[in-house]
Order: sequence, then structure tokens, then C-alpha cells
Amino acid sequence: MDMSEAPRSHGDEVIVVARSGPLSGTVTVPGAKNSVLKLMAAALLADGTHLLTNVPVITDVEMMADLLRTLGVSITVHPTGTGETGQRLELVNTGAITPVAPFEQADRIRASVNLLGPLLSRFGEIEIGLPGGDDFGSRPIDMHLSGLEAMGAVFEVRPDCIVGRCDRLRGAEIEFGFPSVGATENILCAAVLADGTTVIRNAAREPEIVDLCAMLRRMGAHMDGEGTSTITVRGVVPGSLGPARHEVVTDRVQAATYIAAVGMCGGRVRIERAVADHMGVMLGRFTDMGLQIDTDEAGLTAACDRRLTSIDVATLPFPGVATDYKPLVVAMLSVADGTGIVTENLYPGRFRYVEELRKLGAGITIDGHHAVVRGVGHLTGARVDAPDIRAGAALVVAGLAASGITEIGEIHHIDRGYDDIVGRLAGLGAPISRESQAS
Ligand code: UD1
Repeated sequence: MDMSEAPRSHGDEVIVVARSGPLSGTVTVPGAKNSVLKLMAAALLADGTHLLTNVPVITDVEMMADLLRTLGVSITVHPTGTGETGQRLELVNTGAITPVAPFEQADRIRASVNLLGPLLSRFGEIEIGLPGGDDFGSRPIDMHLSGLEAMGAVFEVRPDCIVGRCDRLRGAEIEFGFPSVGATENILCAAVLADGTTVIRNAAREPEIVDLCAMLRRMGAHMDGEGTSTITVRGVVPGSLGPARHEVVTDRVQAATYIAAVGMCGGRVRIERAVADHMGVMLGRFTDMGLQIDTDEAGLTAACDRRLTSIDVATLPFPGVATDYKPLVVAMLSVADGTGIVTENLYPGRFRYVEELRKLGAGITIDGHHAVVRGVGHLTGARVDAPDIRAGAALVVAGLAASGITEIGEIHHIDRGYDDIVGRLAGLGAPISRESQAS
């Protein structure tokens, strides 16, 4: 990998933010972490040279690349060229794959669970270290396993890994109890090479699922219904899929982050490449809070000229408000007029950052899976630590609305999913920098 483009992530670095005046200018939103990692895993399904474009410069991509290299995929990262919106990733799968993902690597990244479907559908016996990722409570994978079992796989769950065995997987009717994004992705990847037709009912409908299906189709897979609750996949003969060239979908959570920043600071910002259809409900809630949002084919423009108004929000599967947006919404409510209640329906433990926002003076109480956020006149800068990717970004955004200086530590979490948040916000006029803690 060319390290000149590699995201820096040093334990001794902090993000330093001062209170910002109104933001202005244009920010271009990179490709989505929540898609690219799954697309990389899908490259296991077909031999040949796959090319992913619009790949964000984030450390989770590096970790997934390392994991895939361990399995036997050669990966070259081409830095963002002139006129390009992200890196290009060339993944060469010669078919000489060792289907064993060691615990030490799998534990570093949640998306390692996405190796299950592609590996099982090509190899009769696999071993995958139990996945890690953001720590916001229990993240079970029972639906992934039971779906694959319905297709003929047998699993043995050991303390630090899962061992899976199967002959050729066979198509099945699978109905999820909940529209899980990860389980839908794994079953999709397993079904494309299965013997017969697989129907996934109560499938996740997220834009990242549609993006994965677009890549699988380019590889020669047959499916329909993605983006709805029922996806039908007609398996093809093993060996008949080919490599794909695919552009990663825009990151809707990063797009929302820059909209949230406009809400906190005021101003008017062009958010290039944001896909309004992928964030419709969230955009509606931003509008309810007082932002003006104008959308078009190429992106959107967000403006705010008043104090935000409080609203109540509940996280839900797509098209609802995604759990990943929630820390941003809590940060916005912390300075809004009135009291808002935020309900977390996906991950009840995902409120750890609230303690950090309180250090900035936010008036938040937690009651079960609800956060009651009483807007305060202003936040006050303090030293805080990023507990996970999205919470880290929310702390950055909160710092923009805090008097004095906010210093955010543990920013390696932010680097896992945000492609140069500091440079992008600075480009909009925000007083923000990345500094060595020692200085
Ligand atoms: C979830 C989010 C996704 C986000 C990602 C990273 C949703 C629906 N999914 O995806 O948008 O990008 O986190 O923050 O918002 N579950 C089980 N058993 C399983 C799988 C899941 O009980 O086998 C439960 C989870 O505990 C959770 C819910 O289902 O309560 C959603 O899980 P899922 O969509 O699979 O999570 P991710 O794929 O991680």
C-alpha cells in the first residue's frame, strides 16, 4: 500500500476544535465504510482482478485488506488521483485462498463476519475468528448462522472462532426475525453460488445492501428485489462468476455529519455526492430541527440560520433513522431549544458517549434505551475521548459549538470510518486541527 495516502492513526494524536462561526463552502462526501468492507469480502466469490473505486481512506479498509491478504487475496491500493473521489483498490483473487481468518485480525473489525457467506459458498470448511468492531453492547450473529444452516452449513462455535462446514450450499427460504444488515449480506453472498433459489424475507433494505447487489450482479449473479423486504437470488454454477469493477456508494453517515455540523454552527454548505434518497427520513428530521435542505441529482445544500429546535427520534432499520446517525442527533439536541428524546432500538448499549458530551456541559439523562436531551444555551470545551466511530464524530461536531477548546482523544476510532474529517471541516471554515498530544 502506498502509505502517502494511508490514514494516519497514532495513539498520541488528538483533534483540537474551537467554537466555529457559520460554515461555508463545498465538501465532497467519500464512499461508505459500511459498504466498501462488504464489497471487499465479496471479491472472494470470483477469481480474477476486481476493481473498487471511490474507496474511502480509512483504517477499517486497511484492516480488511490485511485480513484478505492473509486469506490469499493480493491487494494494491492506488491513491486518489486528480478528479477521483477516492482511492482505487485492486483485489486479485487467484483462487488460492486459505479460508481461515485468524482471531487476532478478525477481532479488529466487525465486518470480518462478512467473510462467512463468501467463504462458505466457495470452500467446504472455513474458520473465522469471532468479529470485533465498535463496542456498543452485544452484537449477536445467530441470524447469520441460522440462515446459513438452512442452506446446509453446519457450525461449531468455539471460544474465539467459528468453524463452518458444508457441501455445496443449497437455496432456501429464509425469513429473518429482524431485518439485519449483516445477516442479509452474508446470505446474499452465500446464495449467489448456491444450488437453487434462495428467498430472503424481511431482508434489510439499506442502500449498502443495494450496493452489494449491484457488485454481485456485475460479477454475474442473478437476483432481484434488493431494496425491498424480499430478495430472490438464483444461484449460479460455482466458477461462473467473474471479477467486477464497481464504484462504492456514497457514505450517508458522513454526509449527515457535515449536515449536523451546519446545524451546530449555522451557515450554508454544499454537500457534494450526498444521495438524498438514501437519507430521506433523516433529512426530514434535520428539517424538523430547523435546517433548510435542498436536494438535487449531484448532492444537497444544507443551511441553518437559527437555533435548532428539539425533536424526538427513534432509530430503526432503513428507511428509518439509522443507529449510526444517533450520536450526531444527540449532539445537535444538546444545544437545541427544548427537550428531545432519542430512542435506540438497535443497540441499547450505544449511549457510552453521553458521558463525554456531559463533560462539555450537555444535559442528557439515560433511561433504559432512551436518552432525554435537554438543550442548553451553550456547550463548554473540555478534554473528551472518542468511544467509537460515530460517537467520535459527534464529539467533533459538538466541539464546534462549544466555547473554548475541545480536545478529542482516542481518535483512532474516528479514523476507522471517517476520511479526513478534520481537513473537510477546516475546508468549510471550522477552526479544527489534528495535533500531536505532546505538543
Ligand atoms: C448495524 C446497522 C447498520 C450500521 C451498523 C454499524 C441497522 C439495521 N443496522 O448493522 O445500519 O451501519 O450497525 O453501526 O441499523 N441481530 C441479532 N442477531 C443477528 C444479527 C443482528 O440479534 O444475527 C440484532 C442486533 O443485535 C441488532 C439488530 O439485530 O439489535 C441489527 O443488527 P444488524 O443490522 O445485523 O447490525 P449490523 O449489520 O451491525
